[in-house]
Amino acid sequence: MNFRQLAYGLLSYVPGAADALVGATGGTCSADYCYCVWLRHLVLARTGGMSGFPAVVAELGPGDSIGVGLAALISGAERYVALDAVPHARASRNLQIFDELVHLFRMRAPIPGLDRFPEMLIGLPSLDFPRDVLTDAHMERALAPERIAWLRQVVAGAVTSPCLEYHAPWNQVEERHAGSVDFLLSNAVMEHVNDLADAYRAVCRWLRPQGHASHQIDFRSHGLFAAWDGHWACPDWLWALFVGRRPYLLNREPLSTHLRLSEAAGLELGKLVTVTRAPVSRRLARRFRNLSPEDRVTCGAYLLARRA
Ligand SMILES: C[S@@+](CC[C@H](N)C(=O)[O-])C[C@H]1O[C@@H](n2cnc3c(N)ncnc32)[C@H](O)[C@@H]1O
Repeated sequence: MNFRQLAYGLLSYVPGAADALVGATGGTCSADYCYCVWLRHLVLARTGGMSGFPAVVAELGPGDSIGVGLAALISGAERYVALDAVPHARASRNLQIFDELVHLFRMRAPIPGLDRFPEMLIGLPSLDFPRDVLTDAHMERALAPERIAWLRQVVAGAVTSPCLEYHAPWNQVEERHAGSVDFLLSNAVMEHVNDLADAYRAVCRWLRPQGHASHQIDFRSHGLFAAWDGHWACPDWLWALFVGRRPYLLNREPLSTHLRLSEAAGLELGKLVTVTRAPVSRRLARRFRNLSPEDRVTCGAYLLARRA
């Protein structure tokens, strides 16, 4: 058990402390990571049936920077909307990541693999730059010097443009985006969302008909316990102390809950890739004792769903 995290949960009851205890989220502070996330979601979504390149991209939970969305814009998206629960992203970091991303796209750098970012969990058929969708002609238009210079000004805040929006929290703004998004992605986010049913309904509302939602979900215990499935062995009373009054931690829901809620929201499953691992915790907390055999071993998943 991670006692430091338990202490954070307890400290969060101190008035005013809960928000201060939300630290850095990790990955999206590096351009390589953002490049990797964007291209992985794009490649996986294409193998799941998404055709063409999405013009309007939204992201749930971008974290420390909006670098994944910047990768989408640099590679040709017309509009990106970032929707986080907590305003983690910093403008100065975004600009540095933007410049590094432009360089990666100009080089048509390969997609970093699991050796570089093992937390991505799911392997790709090829790590080559996806020239089938990001063709030379497409990338030439996307990387045109005047377009990149203009985007850079938008990222720096020197120019305001509807092509880039950041909302944290997002619950006040959702209706404006209803039916407008071609591609919504989340990476290592859905396992943190408190009200999952509401989030999947919002995803469905934001998407245009036939638009795609692409989620990578990590079902492991995120270092709260030594065992990858230790959070499922934690009794509810102790779990409540871990969470405390933090804005989010883990919702502990298994894969089947995500599939059910996504479908109930009006999304059709297009592709599902799961990563399994042998259970480690011997005795689960009561509410997890009836996990299905599939849920019990699923430590990660990629799911692509389409608005019907
Ligand atoms: C582990 S970080 C992942 C950040 C980034 N996507 C990445 O790949 O590194 C989890 C993110 O989920 C966000 N999050 C938690 N609850 C959320 C919610 N209800 N809606 C949107 N984002 C949420 C957090 O604020 C944080 O940015």
